Amino acid sequence: MSKIISIVSGKGGTGKSLFAANMGALLAMGGHRVVLVDMDMGLRNLDIYLGLENKIVYNVMDVISGVCRIKQALVKDKRFKSLYLVSAAPPKDERDITPLHMDVLCSKLSEEFDYIIIDGCSGIHEGLDLAVAPADTVVIVTEAEIASIRDADIVDRELVKLGKESRYAVINKVNPELMARGIVPSLADISSDLRLNIAGIIQYDDNVFIATNKGVPIVLKLGTYIERNFSKIVKRIVEGDRY
Ligand SMILES: Nc1ncnc2c1ncn2[C@@H]1O[C@H](COP(=O)(O)OP(=O)(O)OP(=O)(O)O)[C@@H](O)[C@H]1O
Ligand SMILES: [Mg+2]
Repeated sequence: MSKIISIVSGKGGTGKSLFAANMGALLAMGGHRVVLVDMDMGLRNLDIYLGLENKIVYNVMDVISGVCRIKQALVKDKRFKSLYLVSAAPPKDERDITPLHMDVLCSKLSEEFDYIIIDGCSGIHEGLDLAVAPADTVVIVTEAEIASIRDADIVDRELVKLGKESRYAVINKVNPELMARGIVPSLADISSDLRLNIAGIIQYDDNVFIATNKGVPIVLKLGTYIERNFSKIVKRIVEGDRY
């Protein structure tokens, strides 16, 4: 049985795809068989963050609608023993997809993989239902900013309605100086505003930005504070630990 983890957010651009790519990379580096499924339909970019954009032929919609077999849509990241990507459909793909399709897709993928990581969308439209339908754990990525936290809380309430019990927040793009000066909410403020477990915080760092633009998961740079921090966060999420 594989573990299925969906990554979502309230506001856009909080770092979901960055987090999904690096979580996948770390788990694959740990010897697990991992598949990343990009469910940000029309706005895919996980392929770019993994440097696989030129290798995509089929996408998740092609699998679900029977245009191709799952194996044909799995793109291997050759830097890892077992890390694969199933890309999202490009813009204007009108094919219908339901939460049931997602359940079926993930039950097939779970025959081959230990971890299925779904890179979801932002907001509370139907894309959220699709992205989290098969998930046993959901991670909400938010920034340390009042609007982003409020939107994360709105998404969290939807997740509660959908019966998702295992829910974590990752606070990304943190500027420690602004946090220390009380200009943005502190960790204590955030944990009192959100009713979910905080798995960890990630600082804003130009190296993260540069790595995503180069198609390199930043955790490949072993021994850096970023890699150690990501490792701790991922461990908490997969082992069900509290911050
Ligand atoms: N900790 C960080 N430090 C610096 N830059 C970051 C950090 N986290 C994310 N970014 C940058 O922020 C941008 C948005 O990140 P990303 O695409 O992962 O967000 P997203 O939530 O997936 O966005 P979308 O809602 O569009 O899917 C990217 O350019 C990424 O490199
Ligand atoms: Mg994204």
